[in-house]
Amino acid sequence: MTPEQNDTNAEPSLETELLGMKMRTPLIMASGTFGYAFEIARVADLDFSHIGAVILKSVTLEPRQGNPPPRVAETPAGMLNSVGLQNPGVDYVIRHYLGMLENFDTNFIASVAGHTVHEYVECSVKMASHESIRAVELNMSCPNVRDGRRFASDPAGAAALIRAVKERCPKPIIAKLAPGTEDVGEIAGACIDAGADALSAGNTYVGMVIDTRRRRPLLGGNTGGLSGPAIRPLAVHNVCLVHQVASQKNIPVIGCGGVMTGNDAAEMMLAGACAVQVGTAVFTNVHIAADISAGLRKYLVAQKENEVSAIVGTLQQNETS
Ligand SMILES: Cc1cc2nc3c(=O)[nH]c(=O)nc-3n(C[C@H](O)[C@H](O)[C@H](O)COP(=O)(O)O)c2cc1C
Repeated sequence: MTPEQNDTNAEPSLETELLGMKMRTPLIMASGTFGYAFEIARVADLDFSHIGAVILKSVTLEPRQGNPPPRVAETPAGMLNSVGLQNPGVDYVIRHYLGMLENFDTNFIASVAGHTVHEYVECSVKMASHESIRAVELNMSCPNVRDGRRFASDPAGAAALIRAVKERCPKPIIAKLAPGTEDVGEIAGACIDAGADALSAGNTYVGMVIDTRRRRPLLGGNTGGLSGPAIRPLAVHNVCLVHQVASQKNIPVIGCGGVMTGNDAAEMMLAGACAVQVGTAVFTNVHIAADISAGLRKYLVAQKENEVSAIVGTLQQNETS
């Protein structure tokens, strides 16, 4: 077989690199949908060969009870959640959970939230000091808590937060932006100028389900975050907007919202994402990353591409009048 033939027949590679992490695939399990990994590993035989990285559930400096139940509602093509950042606090997570991560062969990214800049900074520094943590995602865009979106809806506030965390945190910082804000490009630019190493675009969209019999919101927290396929076209557009800004400064964008299949992941990457988060899809199948990577490989074969990184940002916009 000639080298040329060999090349054509080779399986396309899904390997990629993000913030110094070597990833087997561009698929990243989204924060809050994969817990701290060990809980899922207790009930399912997880195969990490299709998972490039896992973003752990968001932690805060102090423990949080979260919102009153019910906390989730099924919606057409998605779900609404109002978990409200329930977690046992950063010290507990570090002491009891992070040691277990060495049993899993993938990259781990911490996710941090807070009411104040001080909380974000302290929590990021603590999580980043653990050897199993490769980067820190700042959840600046949680719709389910008071102040949750404050930092992602104001360029100056977002910049001040990133700058403060960057000053003290020794590991790369990813800013998780809020979707659906018209000025997402401006916020993205502010985060980049303040030193963000990557941007996640984006989070859930605020929604409400009403229990018509009781004439009350179905969720205990009244509103919740809409996720799943219902938001995918919105999320893809959001990635396009963020990519327009981030590509000028060579800052990687991580797509997030409604990805269920290999073709969905390809859409995100064409729009400019160099890696893709998978969240709600995990609730339909904990092994979904295997299916998504198989689908992505199939797409690359059909497109005659050898490497997944070759498609990033290659979307051609149509001419409009
Ligand atoms: C039940 C649930 C809990 C979540 N918890 C968090 C969280 O703790 N931190 C965070 O940044 N995002 C959280 N998210 C948002 C997801 O990380 C993701 O941004 C969002 O669900 C959109 O992606 P998807 O459509 O693939 O689910 C949560 C989502 C769900 C459905």
